[in-house]
Parts: sequence; C-alpha cells; structure tokens
Amino acid sequence: MCRPDHFAVEYAINPWMHPEAGADRATAIRQWETLRDVYLDLGHRVSLIEPLEGLPDMVFSANGALVVDGRVYGARFAYPQRAAEGPAYLRWFTQNGYERVHEAAFVNEGEGDFLTLDHLVLAGTGFRTDISAHKEAQEFLGRPVVTLQLVDPRFYHLDTALFPLSGHNVAYFPEAFSPGSREVLRTLFPDAVLASEEDAVTFGLNSVSDGVNVVISAEAGGLQLELKRRGFEVVPVDLSELRKAGGGPKCCTLEIRERVAGATAPGPEGVDA
Ligand code: ARG
Repeated sequence: MCRPDHFAVEYAINPWMHPEAGADRATAIRQWETLRDVYLDLGHRVSLIEPLEGLPDMVFSANGALVVDGRVYGARFAYPQRAAEGPAYLRWFTQNGYERVHEAAFVNEGEGDFLTLDHLVLAGTGFRTDISAHKEAQEFLGRPVVTLQLVDPRFYHLDTALFPLSGHNVAYFPEAFSPGSREVLRTLFPDAVLASEEDAVTFGLNSVSDGVNVVISAEAGGLQLELKRRGFEVVPVDLSELRKAGGGPKCCTLEIRERVAGATAPGPEGVDA
C-alpha cells in the first residue's frame, strides 16, 4: 500500500475526477489508515512503498504491478501524469528481493486491469490497458489471460467492475462489459454474483476478498447483503474521499498473495498488500 501523503485531485483522467472540486488529503489519509488497519486486523501483512511527491495518484497501488506466483509484471501507465509510478513500483519489488521482474513493453495498469484467479487471469481493456499487454502478461506468467472488453467510462479499470470472490468465482456488473465479454463471464462463472448499477457506482465492485472476508465500500448495501447470504464476512470501509480520484479499497491494494510465514490460515491465502 502507499500512504496518500501527496494525494490530490489535480487533473482529470477518469470521469470521477473534478480538479475544481479537489479533495481533502487529511480525510483521505484517515480513511486509508482505516483500510490498512482492517487488513492488519484480518491477519494480512501490509508492506508500504514510499509515496513520491508529484504523484497524487500513487496511493492507488493496485495499478503498480501484477504479481502472480512471485513473478512481477510491471505497469506501464496510459497517462503521462502517472508514468513515473511504473518504475517506482518496479524498484520496490527489486529492492525487496523479487527476482522475476518483467518491465512491460505494452501499456498496462497492473492489478487495476488484471485480476488473478486460481487457473487464469482476467484482463480488462478498452480504456487503459492495451490488449497486447494481455498477451505479454500471459507469456511472462505462463497462465491463461482472458480478455474482457470494458465499455462504460465510469468503469475504466477492470477492478471497478469485477472482483474475484475466491480462486474460482467473481462478482461483477454486467453492463460494464461488451456483449461478447458478458457471454464469456457467464460461461466461466455461471454462479457469479451480479451487482446492480447502484452498487457499482459506489465502487462496490472495487473490493478485496481473501476467500472468507470481503473488504467492500460501505455504501454498497445490496451487494453486501448478497455476499452475506453466500456466507462471506463483509467488512465495510468508507473511502469516499479517495473516490474523488476514482478509487476504492481495491485500487489502494496491490495483492501479492504470499502466505505469511508462521500464520495459521483463516482464509485460503495471505494477502500481502
Ligand atoms: N485517478 C486514478 C486513475 O485514474 C485512479 C486509479 C484507480 N485505480 C484502480 N485500480 N482502479 O488512474
């Protein structure tokens, strides 16, 4: 995770951002600290990257890379305002002992557009990540990467429209996807949780599940009910200030998915955020 020490809404690169309205950094920091504490309370490990001045969106660490089985596929940002984050996140991984690190040739925004399940990686395209990056990631990771076409600018990253509930099921907002991609999702996940537009616009799908607990936007009431009905522990968090930049809980979380040494598993996987 990356503390929002330099957080601001200074430019608009998605429809949620209104530089004239701005955002309150102190509130953002408070909300972010709550999210970090939630992960720690759930038994996950949280590693931090140093926030860099001049990079107000760096708090959205999900975009920094994609990590699968210890292999780190680096981000290459679509907009110049965030370009310097790519090398900064890659440096964090090399400095922290990750040996299989790949500097991407194609534009991709890390876990914002790549979501990992047990046997495949779902990949969004249409607004940020280049479809060529899907192929590049598949080759580097040795895992099937399934392309999904995003069509609604409000849901410009895959992680705003879909999240893995476990290693083999997902929740998503169907209308964020092209007709063909909706069919793909129906085929792959017949038992998926389908979210309403009402829950999607509160960033309800920008959630983090460890298979047992789902950390989710406090306002996504309908989705929370359905998740409880399916036996998940729902952990609501308020990240309304960060939403002014177009981000929610998942955007603030780069999942490394390594077991924490010595931990007795509550969930199937430890989340190293
Ligand atoms: N302002 C950031 C951007 O538009 C928000 C990133 C949100 N991150 C995410 N994983 N969806 O790039």
